Amino acid sequence: MRVNTRFAAAAAGAAVLALGLTACGGDDSSDTSSGDGGSSGDSAGEVEVFTWWAAGSEKAGLDALVGVFNEQHPDTEFINGAVAGGAGSAAKDLLQSRLQTNDPPDTFQAHAGAELQDYISAGQIEDVSDLYDEFGLTEAFPADLVDRLTVDGKIYSIPSNIHRANVVWANPTVLEDAGLDPAATYDSMDDWFTALDAVEESGVTALSVATTWTQVNLLETVLLADLGAEGYNGLWDGSTDWEGAEVTGALEDFEKLMGYTNTDRDGLDWPDATQQVIDGQAGFNVMGDWAEAAFAEAGKSSPADYTYFPVPGTDGVFDFLADSFTLPVGAPHPDGAKNWLETVGSADGQAAFNKAKGSIPANTESDTSDFSEYQKTAIDSFSQDTIVSSLAHGAAVPVATLNDISDATSKFTTGASDLAGYQSELAAAVNG
Ligand code: GAL
Repeated sequence: MRVNTRFAAAAAGAAVLALGLTACGGDDSSDTSSGDGGSSGDSAGEVEVFTWWAAGSEKAGLDALVGVFNEQHPDTEFINGAVAGGAGSAAKDLLQSRLQTNDPPDTFQAHAGAELQDYISAGQIEDVSDLYDEFGLTEAFPADLVDRLTVDGKIYSIPSNIHRANVVWANPTVLEDAGLDPAATYDSMDDWFTALDAVEESGVTALSVATTWTQVNLLETVLLADLGAEGYNGLWDGSTDWEGAEVTGALEDFEKLMGYTNTDRDGLDWPDATQQVIDGQAGFNVMGDWAEAAFAEAGKSSPADYTYFPVPGTDGVFDFLADSFTLPVGAPHPDGAKNWLETVGSADGQAAFNKAKGSIPANTESDTSDFSEYQKTAIDSFSQDTIVSSLAHGAAVPVATLNDISDATSKFTTGASDLAGYQSELAAAVNG
C-alpha cells in the first residue's frame, strides 16, 4: 500500500493499491441506447440520483449541480431520489435495502474512504476508472483523494466536493452580550469552556447540537483536539488505546461540552442546531462546513452576522470528508448515470455545486474566485493542514462500526450509560 504523507493514517478503509491492473468491471452498457433489462426506455433518458440533500441549503447545492447538468445533458431527465436526514441518517439504511433487493438507483452519494469500501467489498458498485480517462479527470483531482476511491487499481466513484468537519460557528452578538470578544479564538478545550460558561451565564444556550450523528461529529472533534492528529489517527489504525487515559480525558471533555447544549437536541437535525446560532438562540455550534451554506442561505455575512474558527485544539488540522457519486451494479439507466457523473466531475459542475454547498471543489480546475471568504480559508487549509478522516462522515470507519459508535454515543448522551461504560462500548465498536 502506498502511504502518502498528508493523508497518512487513512485508516481502516484505506485503499489497497495494485497499480497496473486494467479496469474490467461488470457489464458496461455505455454504448447502449435501449437500456438494460431493468429499464424499459432509453438508458440515457433519465437518471435517478440518490442523495440526502433533500431540503434547505443542501437542496440548494444539489439544485445548482442539476442546473449545470441540465445545460450539459439536456436529454437526460434528472429524477431526484433524495431521502431527508442529515449525514444520510435515514438514506443509508434505505439505500442498503434497495441494493439488497436489486433495486438500485442509477447513482448514489457515498463518502470517500471506509464507507465507499463497504460498497466495493459488497460488489455493489462498478469500476468507473474508464470514465476518468473519458472525461479527462485523472489529473483534475488530488491523488490522495483518488486513492480513497480506489481498490486494486480500480476507481469506484467520482468525488463532488471536500468538506471540513471541525469548524465552530458562532454568533458575535450573543458573544458580545456575554462579555466576550467575538473575534477571539480559543487554543484549547479549557479556554473554550471559560467562554462557554460566560455564554451560559448570559442565559443563552452556549453550544447547540442536534440528533446523534451531530453528537458524533462533536465527539470526533474533541478526540482530535485532545489526542492530536497522530493520536486521533491511531484510533483507527490500532495504535491509540481506546481504553487508555487519554481517551478517558477526551470523553470527559465531550461530556462537559454536552452539558452546555440544548436539551431538545435529540429531536433536531443539523439545520435546526445551526439555525439556533443564526437566530441568536445559541452562542456556538460545531458543524461541518455545510453550515456555511446555511448562513449564506439565511442572507448572513461574516464577520458581522457569524464567525468561524477551527474547533479549539484542532487548528492546523483539516478533518476531512468527501461526497462522491457511484455507478451501482445493475443501475437501470447506466448511460444517464454516466452523464450525471460527467457533470459531477466537471470543473463547471463542481464550481456551481460547491459554491452553494459550503464545501470546496475536489476538481482543482474549478474556478473558485467568487467563493466566500470562509471557503477561501478552507481551500488554504486543505492545501496546508494535516488531513485526517472524519468519523461521522464515512471516511474513518465502515458503516457498521459507525453505527455501533452512534448507538453507544446515544446511550451515553441520554443517560443510559456512564462514562466508563461508554468508553468500553466505543472500544468494542472499533476493536470488534
Ligand atoms: C455529510 C455530507 C455532507 C452534508 C452533511 C449533512 O455526511 O457529506 O455533504 O450533506 O452530511 O447532511
